[in-house]
Amino acid sequence: MRKPIIAGNWKMNKTPSEARELVSALVPLVKDAACDVVVCTPAVDFAAVSEVIKGTNIKLGAENMHWKESGAYTGELSAAMLKESGVEYVILGHSERRQYFGETDVTVNKRVKAALAAGLKVILCVGEMLADRENGVTDELVALQTKIALKDVSAGELKNVIIAYEPVWAIGTGKTATAEQANEVCAVIRSTIKALYGAEAAEGITIQYGGSMNAKNAAELLAQPDVDGGLIGGASLKAPDFAVIVDAATKG
Ligand code: 13P
Repeated sequence: MRKPIIAGNWKMNKTPSEARELVSALVPLVKDAACDVVVCTPAVDFAAVSEVIKGTNIKLGAENMHWKESGAYTGELSAAMLKESGVEYVILGHSERRQYFGETDVTVNKRVKAALAAGLKVILCVGEMLADRENGVTDELVALQTKIALKDVSAGELKNVIIAYEPVWAIGTGKTATAEQANEVCAVIRSTIKALYGAEAAEGITIQYGGSMNAKNAAELLAQPDVDGGLIGGASLKAPDFAVIVDAATKG
C-alpha cells in the first residue's frame, strides 16, 4: 500500500515570524495524521520551521534547488545547504519555475539527479498548460516531462521520488481538475513509470495531485485510486484548511 502524502507549497509567502506562527498552529492539528505531512517553505523560514517541528510528524521541504555542489550561481541553493538546514524534501520542476524562471525538462533532470544523489526526497512536478489540454496532448506531454526528468535515475533512486501532477490551468485559479481528470493523468504517469521501471515500481510510486486543492474538494480528489496525495498552495497557508486536507488523505 502506498502511504499518502500531503505537502504544502508555501511559495513566496511567510516571513520567518509568520512561518513560526503558521507551523506552530499546524503541529497540534496534524499530530495524529496517518499520512506523511510536509511543509515546503521559503529558505529564509527553514530555521524557524525546523525548530518548531522538531520531534513532531511534520517534515520540512524546499521549493527548489540547484544541481551544482557549489560555485558562482548567485541566488541559488545547493543540496548540502538544504540538508544542513533540516530539509528532507525538495520540490523540483514546479510550473512557476518553468514559466517564470526558464526551467526546462533538461534542467529539471539535472536537479532531480543532484537531489537524489544527496539523499533528498524529490517532489517532481509535471503538468500541462491549458492550450496543451485543448490541443489534446496532455497525456503525451506529461509522459514526456516525466521521462526526461527521470533520465538516468535508477530504480533504487526512484523510491525517493514523488510525482506531483499539477495542471497549470488549475494552479491558483480556483479551477480544480475534476476528480476523474486528476485520476486519469495520474494513471498516465503511473503507466509511464511502468514502461520505464516495471510494474512493481509503478505500483509503489506516490503520485500527488496539485492545483486549487482545498478543504472542500480534497476528499473527492484523494479518494481516486491513482491519486496518492496532494501538493497544496493557497490552502496550505491556513492551518485549519491544511489540516482538513491531511485528514481527508488519512481517510481517502
Ligand atoms: P494552489 O493550491 O494555490 O492552486 O497551488 C498549487 C501548487 O502550485 C502547489 O505546488
